[in-house]
Amino acid sequence: MALVFPSTHPLVKHKLTLLRDMKTEPKKFRELIRELTVLLAYEATTDLTLVDKDVTTPMGQARGAQLADKIGLVPILRAGLGMVEGIWELMPSAEVWHIGLYRDEKTLRPVQYYNKLPISPTVEVCLILDPMLATGGSAVATCDILKKWGARRIKFVGVIGAPEGIQRLTTAHPDVPIHIAAVDERLNDIGYIVPGLGDAGDRQFGTG
Ligand code: PRP
Ligand code: URA
Repeated sequence: MALVFPSTHPLVKHKLTLLRDMKTEPKKFRELIRELTVLLAYEATTDLTLVDKDVTTPMGQARGAQLADKIGLVPILRAGLGMVEGIWELMPSAEVWHIGLYRDEKTLRPVQYYNKLPISPTVEVCLILDPMLATGGSAVATCDILKKWGARRIKFVGVIGAPEGIQRLTTAHPDVPIHIAAVDERLNDIGYIVPGLGDAGDRQFGTG
């Protein structure tokens, strides 16, 4: 069974519409990416493991809980960078491991140019951050890298997915849940998501 979770949250739908708008400038675009990521990460982390922890309040003892899982945030450069800060505020002890990939414009295959993962895993749960799941090549390559590293629990957090990319990721890595704001219609003949939002890296960084 495919683990695909498109958000139904009204705030996500509202902010995604603003994000798609071609009139949205990079500053606002970055703000929206950050806000959407917080909402999506909230939905993606409902099954994190807790351990009991008692705490003393000014009025007495309270039963409480604390996160047991060490979380790794894995943004795929460049566009995934804008998804880090918001989640990091929610989970300040998360580690951030960058993976640099770009799509070759002709073949659409991911080309790796950066990876600074340590030799063995330091976290229990990895959240891959990338706004766009187009052909799925970059997401599959990142899961391959993380699994080879030894990661056992991986989740993909994205903004827009094409059916082709979702299919490819769920076929290659059926154990990786996909948390996403929307599933769009299709890819066009140059591998862009339609209607999508254009180039997520260029729109964040004012390039292109
Ligand atoms: C974009 C996007 C994903 C990838 C998705 O990155 O951020 O990483 O394309 O496409 P795929 O599913 O077909 O692999 P891009 O290669 O444009 O690099 P950038 O983030 O540096 O702009
Ligand atoms: N990468 C993007 O930034 N946008 C797309 O539509 C596809 C890949």
